[in-house]
Amino acid sequence: MTENCNPNFPPVPQRVESARLIMRPSMRADADLLMKWWNDPEVTSPGGNVDAMQYDERDMEDWFSRYVDQRHCATHFVICLRDEAETPIGEFYIASDDRPGCVGFAILIGARDQWGNGYATEAVEAYAAALFASGHCESMRMDISVSNNRAVGLCIAVGSEVEHGWANGLFQTMILTEDAFRLKRRPAANAAAESAQD
Ligand SMILES: CC(C)(COP(=O)(O)OP(=O)(O)OC[C@H]1O[C@@H](n2cnc3c(N)ncnc32)[C@H](O)[C@@H]1OP(=O)(O)O)[C@@H](O)C(=O)NCCC(=O)NCCS
Repeated sequence: MTENCNPNFPPVPQRVESARLIMRPSMRADADLLMKWWNDPEVTSPGGNVDAMQYDERDMEDWFSRYVDQRHCATHFVICLRDEAETPIGEFYIASDDRPGCVGFAILIGARDQWGNGYATEAVEAYAAALFASGHCESMRMDISVSNNRAVGLCIAVGSEVEHGWANGLFQTMILTEDAFRLKRRPAANAAAESAQD
């Protein structure tokens, strides 16, 4: 199901499931975990926030009242494992800008012991597939630090390309277009079809 968050925003999927993950709207019950992740410099530094901002309870209350409460549709999601407890491991969020047919996004896997398991790749692929299938959006952009090797690897794994290098040489905008996404997925789909025939 997709929802329009505001008139200038393409409708966006509200719940996405993949083989191992569920992405669902963030809730107040997630506050403690989100605060832990946002306050962990090892999680937030690669994104460019050197010492982490150090949120306290009041900051979290403020954040929820601005970004979650009274919104009839979500742009901020918690990534959960598909286990019995639906264990949260990270967050994914999207933002609109004035370019039609495109959203910006960011992702973090806050549970550092889960890094390198392919979860971020799976989450972005699943969300991109649902978003592009909606027919309202044909690209997704992410701004990342050029030295954030994991995030660069993630972007390349899903089919993103460098769209723009920023003047200080420290950041780049990577764009995932629907066409590149489909091309990137096709070899995997072909391999799956071939192994099914074996
Ligand atoms: C970036 C981040 C989301 C990646 O999450 P993850 O679940 O570990 O990513 P994946 O396991 O799906 O790996 C994605 C790709 O990163 C690359 N990668 C993984 N570990 C790596 C490492 N140690 N060094 C370099 N590249 C690495 C791989 O190329 C992988 O692609 P592959 O599947 O083709 O091998 C996670 O490390 C994180 O939350 N970092 C802090 C926040 C952040 O930087 N967010 C991105 C900017 S918004």
